Amino acid sequence: MFSKKEIGKFNELETPFFYYNTAGLKNTLKKIKLESEKYGYIVHYAMKANANDKLLSIIKDFGFGADCVSGNEVKKAVDIGFNNKKIAFAGVGKSDKEINIGLGTNIFTFNCESLQEIEVINEMAEKKAMVADIAIRINPNVNAHTHHYITTGLEENKFGVNSWEFEKLFELLSKLKNVRLLGLHFHVGSQITDLKVFKDLCLRVNGIQKIFIDNDFPLEHINVGGGLGVDYEHPDNEDFPDFEAFFALFHNFLELKQGQDLHFELGRSVIARAGDLISRVLYIKKGIKTNFAVLDAGMTELIRPALYQAIHKIENISSNEGIEFYDVVGPICESSDTFAKNVQMKETKRGDLIAIRTAGAYGQVMASNYNLRDFAKAYYSDELLTTD
Ligand SMILES: Cc1ncc(COP(=O)(O)O)c(C=O)c1O
Repeated sequence: MFSKKEIGKFNELETPFFYYNTAGLKNTLKKIKLESEKYGYIVHYAMKANANDKLLSIIKDFGFGADCVSGNEVKKAVDIGFNNKKIAFAGVGKSDKEINIGLGTNIFTFNCESLQEIEVINEMAEKKAMVADIAIRINPNVNAHTHHYITTGLEENKFGVNSWEFEKLFELLSKLKNVRLLGLHFHVGSQITDLKVFKDLCLRVNGIQKIFIDNDFPLEHINVGGGLGVDYEHPDNEDFPDFEAFFALFHNFLELKQGQDLHFELGRSVIARAGDLISRVLYIKKGIKTNFAVLDAGMTELIRPALYQAIHKIENISSNEGIEFYDVVGPICESSDTFAKNVQMKETKRGDLIAIRTAGAYGQVMASNYNLRDFAKAYYSDELLTTD
């Protein structure tokens, strides 16, 4: 829901653009802090969800760590001022250059995704006369019941070390001198709305942690990744995501050992609701069953619908007319450049402003300049609303 003042300001700006509600973001961060600190849990922000400097700075100021999946994300986290000992570095294909960035930054942990990666990190740390702190990303074979492109914790997925490799893993870890095992890492998928998935994860973690301890590999921490989903259909609903229930579930079902820390890597649930994509209608075109509303934003700004058939609430924020049905599409030369088919919107005409809601996560950060389009700008509520 936007205020009259906001819509007035939007009308003055070149579209498309991302609009970030910084006050909303701070409220979310406050809530996450409150609920996680009840149990002493440590939260890292998954930078892949949105690596915009201003938003990262706000998140860093709340004391969260960073979860990175590339060398450049590690560098960016350091530049923004995240504490290097709160930087976790995951990724199934870390290059030598990226590993060196992690070693040079003395990060909290490399979340290692294969036995070969552990050997490479050991070798590179040895060359620098260092011992690298690592966690093993385990593939727990837990079904996240989300879109298959954002399911990561099944044996068929490329991520993490599978249980049938544990014997070899233990042999390797006992042999290598330049890596130190600190913990276990898990991440089973994204946009998970059924909390039972996290209960399944907790039960698997309990079993896997026992195997490590029985093999004389005590663990300082467990990292359960991110994945908490948001309500894309009701962007103005105050109560979602339910951080309280989320953290309480881990408290109830995950058996931490004495002195062990529990880490989280939340991305989408932190930032999705703080951002909207604001676009303008270029043309209304008659289709066979419905009309096309052709926007000036497309899959180059927000690829989620084309990539994962993702749903975003789409609103005409200029019109006060009756409801009509539209296929809302972008201008890109691809049929998949469709935000939604047969959606109800107030009667729409050329020049109307359209808000594609809950676009803060995996939106701007996945933008491309395909078709040689310009990258969309970002505006922030605290700046936009204080100018005349
Ligand atoms: C290793 C890892 N941690 C955390 C996240 C963040 O997930 P989400 O944005 O669903 O919270 C991801 C996202 O895919 C990930 O791959």
